[in-house]
Amino acid sequence: MFISLEGIDGSGKSTQARLLAEALGPETLTIREPGGTEAAERIRELLADPSVELDPFAELLLFSAARADLIARVIRPAIEAGVDVVADRFADSSVAYQGGARELGTSYVLSLTDTVIDGLWPDLTVLLRVEPELGLGRADGEDRFESEGLELQRAVAEAYDEIAQIASDRVSVIDAEGSVEEVHRRVMDVVKDHGG
Ligand code: TYD
Repeated sequence: MFISLEGIDGSGKSTQARLLAEALGPETLTIREPGGTEAAERIRELLADPSVELDPFAELLLFSAARADLIARVIRPAIEAGVDVVADRFADSSVAYQGGARELGTSYVLSLTDTVIDGLWPDLTVLLRVEPELGLGRADGEDRFESEGLELQRAVAEAYDEIAQIASDRVSVIDAEGSVEEVHRRVMDVVKDHGG
């Protein structure tokens, strides 16, 4: 199964991705976007530096380039070999951040992203929903998006809600404001409901 975890900054995705991967077993491949290949990790460094100014479309293409390399060289081979893949952010992050918050348009970024990933959408996307105020309080504030504050996180959250409606067959929304253990149980319930 190919499962992605999505949410605003500070929604607890990375912790939940780790716990989910542990629950699925030692063979599970966990990936973190942007990153996961040498080229994608270098792109990550560039994107993570808030002092580098970037046009929103260029930003989208950099995330997309990192993703295309990761898909071709890591995700697709793993899926073809029958390995479970857990992604700490994936294509929906571009739709929410570049499409929603950067205002390139969610439907535009959805269709461009569909081309970038060659239709390889996750079997299941778990959207961890927390209030933007809470998420921002938890985030360390050091990356390009966190440093832009509450308004940006609100726009991201709104775009995620839109994605959850458009892709309701694939996206499950869960309340991520409980304890780590509670949220993990909710994630596992959704995964089991999807046959995982
Ligand atoms: P990440 O390191 O996952 O941050 P965090 O652990 O705080 O969730 O992601 C870095 C930032 O990049 C994050 O603010 C979200 C953003 N992002 C996009 O804007 N578009 C994308 O396509 C992806 C994958 C991430």
